Amino acid sequence: MNSKQVVLISGSSTGFGRLFTETLARAGRTVFATMRDPGGRNAKNASEIRALAEKESLPIHVLEMDVTDDASVERAAEAAIAKAGRIDVAINNAGYYLTGLEEAVTTEQARRLMDTNFLGPVRVNRAVLPHMRRQRSGVLLHISSAAGRLVLPSVGFYCASKFALEALAESYSYELAGQGIESVIVEPGQYATAIFGATVTAADEARTATYGAAKEFPAKVSGALSSTAGNAQEVADAVLRIVETPAGEKQLRYFVSPANFGVNEINALTKEIQGQALEGFGLAADTKFVKGKAAGAA
Ligand SMILES: NC(=O)c1ccc[n+]([C@@H]2O[C@H](COP(=O)([O-])OP(=O)(O)OC[C@H]3O[C@@H](n4cnc5c(N)ncnc54)[C@H](OP(=O)(O)O)[C@@H]3O)[C@@H](O)[C@H]2O)c1
Repeated sequence: MNSKQVVLISGSSTGFGRLFTETLARAGRTVFATMRDPGGRNAKNASEIRALAEKESLPIHVLEMDVTDDASVERAAEAAIAKAGRIDVAINNAGYYLTGLEEAVTTEQARRLMDTNFLGPVRVNRAVLPHMRRQRSGVLLHISSAAGRLVLPSVGFYCASKFALEALAESYSYELAGQGIESVIVEPGQYATAIFGATVTAADEARTATYGAAKEFPAKVSGALSSTAGNAQEVADAVLRIVETPAGEKQLRYFVSPANFGVNEINALTKEIQGQALEGFGLAADTKFVKGKAAGAA
């Protein structure tokens, strides 16, 4: 399709973000691979990406962006615009996993998680949307999770952050359709990335200790997730297919997973019910809601 499409990705140092960077750049996109502290904690990751770009002559530019910092996000978006003149796709990928019994998660831990997983995309979208709306085109792509549709014990706060992200992304899809901008949600199942090594654990151990058998939930869930994790390149390949899908033909949700948890069924059902609600509120035409465009795998 468009060989000059410009893509901005959050959290490109490792995992999905790193694979999106490589996969999309190899497919001819100009990629702004953003990360926290590319001169310090991520210096090795940044230099590996730059070395790959050099070796394969790929149009990748590494930029600093901490999604919890308004000014940092605005600087990164402005730097991308100054260099490339446009942003066609913003991939909200930065995020982390928090595990533990909900009562043992402190309010500060909850605040930090939401600041990254939910408010991070809020900041990125607010920074790129004025440019996309000027272009009258663009894609906001949100890396949610199967945990954005299903709930397991000891994952409640992570689920809450992804459910919140899904609500925002879905509302954006209705509000922006009339301006030629698509908002898309990708829901990966469990994949082998750095996420399990970077997991934050509920801090209030004294409360966890009083939970009897339920205190084993976090270990059971994390063990099951990491032992059945798939190859993360599958998600990068799915994202490339989504980016390649012509404007107006993308689905709202794509479930990509090594295992079927019934998320496609949830997506199909909520799509039908959302359609009824939008029609009931007299909003179906304004939001360009398309009944036949079923949610499904990428
Ligand atoms: N792997 C899975 O099974 C899975 C499944 C469903 C959804 N997801 C989602 O996929 C996304 C990527 O995760 P991953 O699996 O690829 O894990 P990962 O390898 O740990 O990558 C997470 C990325 O987010 C970045 N990040 C964290 N906080 C940030 C901040 N404040 N500002 C900018 N970047 C920040 C990390 O950067 P640093 O290097 O600076 O920490 C890292 O680049 C996350 O949103 C995650 O919730 C993952």
